[in-house]
Amino acid sequence: MSDRTCLSVVLAAGLGTRMRSSLPKVMHEIGGLPLVGHVLKALAEAGSSEVAVVVGPDMPELEQTVSALSPSARCYVQSDRLGTAHAALAAREALSGSNDDVLVLFGDTPLVTAETVANVRKRLAAGADVVVVGFEAADPFGYGRLLMEGEQLLAIREEKDASVEERKVTFCNSGIMGFSGSKILGLLDAIGNANSKGEYYLTDAVEIANRDGLKVVAVAAPEDEVQGINTRAQLAICEGVFQERRRAFAMENGATLRAPQTVFFSHDTIIGEDVIIEQNVVFGPGVRVQNGTEIRAFSHLEGAVVGTESRVGPFARLRPGANLEGKNHVGNFVEVKNASVGLGAKINHLSYVGDAKVGAKSNIGAGTITCNYDGFNKHLTEIGEGSFVGSNSTLVAPLSLGSGAYIAAGSVVTENVPDEALAIGRGRQVVKNGLGKKLRARFQAIKDAKR
Ligand code: UD1
Ligand code: MG
Repeated sequence: MSDRTCLSVVLAAGLGTRMRSSLPKVMHEIGGLPLVGHVLKALAEAGSSEVAVVVGPDMPELEQTVSALSPSARCYVQSDRLGTAHAALAAREALSGSNDDVLVLFGDTPLVTAETVANVRKRLAAGADVVVVGFEAADPFGYGRLLMEGEQLLAIREEKDASVEERKVTFCNSGIMGFSGSKILGLLDAIGNANSKGEYYLTDAVEIANRDGLKVVAVAAPEDEVQGINTRAQLAICEGVFQERRRAFAMENGATLRAPQTVFFSHDTIIGEDVIIEQNVVFGPGVRVQNGTEIRAFSHLEGAVVGTESRVGPFARLRPGANLEGKNHVGNFVEVKNASVGLGAKINHLSYVGDAKVGAKSNIGAGTITCNYDGFNKHLTEIGEGSFVGSNSTLVAPLSLGSGAYIAAGSVVTENVPDEALAIGRGRQVVKNGLGKKLRARFQAIKDAKR
């Protein structure tokens, strides 16, 4: 099979009006990746040599997304949305190439696996002219029904055009189809729009192929892999399936999830071995968690690296650019953004560390804030190795604390501190003996006078 060339055409021009959204339907996300991105990923894994994406005329952001995700993919614009066959023909130039296999997939069917795509290609390699991926639908409403006669698929009937008998069929069209590269253009060009929607249905290629005496077969896939998204409710269902897959994947790879159903991953989350993830943890895009770490309950991580044997949370927030180099403790109500935290450094409670470099083995006390923003620009705070920053310190950036520096609790630090120095930046304490008692008596007298 690997010597056969393969073009994949991803249809993504539909507006998805039932989503009630200003975004093109396929730009909605699952696991932080647009729907169309999931399809592109599966195609890359299945070794599709060429990819064409059919977009609408008013979708520049979709074109940008496609080229960012898959630089070699070409976008074709379908100017009028006249149906799925019409959409596929927008990529006529690509279809006119000499590929052995041509796959047509929908951008709104994101959970398809590389394995299913490979199955379609196997059937084409074995001599089928048209292959349709079908599934047994729990609720077939809205899907095209596959009308089989033995091995041969005779027709796909859309819901609106189906008879009462045909609507009882539960074996449905996923939208994923494979064609012999030499046959597809002839089939698509023969499709008309005499149906209840007045659209050019890609699915009509099946009846036409039968008329031409071609071999048309169906392969079955599990429903959760091929369900299409036309509504926000279906988007949520697919998100759920995606999350289940990622949880299983993390556990297979050596992570303990205390309550898997409460942990949410991104499409690109990387979790190492012997990682413990407690309840209610959310991973945004771009997180790498290395071996032997513990992510405690109610933490939110995004664009961050958690180095080996670190402990994060409970209630921690790691934002983009947070880089914990290893053996770190980042505790409750600590936010770290665009900051490297050296080996063994600790930020245990109630702190904001942004645009900073924290040296190895430093200890950042409770309530420490890096004041990185002056309302106009962001500034860096550098903290040397083995420093001690006392609780409730305010570090006004740009600022550099030397290694081994010691900052007294409650300081507002505006000037650089040399290596091994002590900085105290607060009002001096004054003690007045007996004045507490006097004050209390005076306040009591004021209260009594009001009665
Ligand atoms: C389609 C299938 C149906 C199948 C179901 C599976 C047809 C006629 N029907 O119905 O058999 O069971 O998917 O989910 O193919 N699109 C365009 N341009 C258009 C119309 C659609 O690019 O003019 C794209 C959409 O962006 C979408 C895909 O094609 O990604 C499918 O279109 P949609 O309108 O969602 O079709 P369904 O009604 O779901
Ligand atoms: Mg659909």
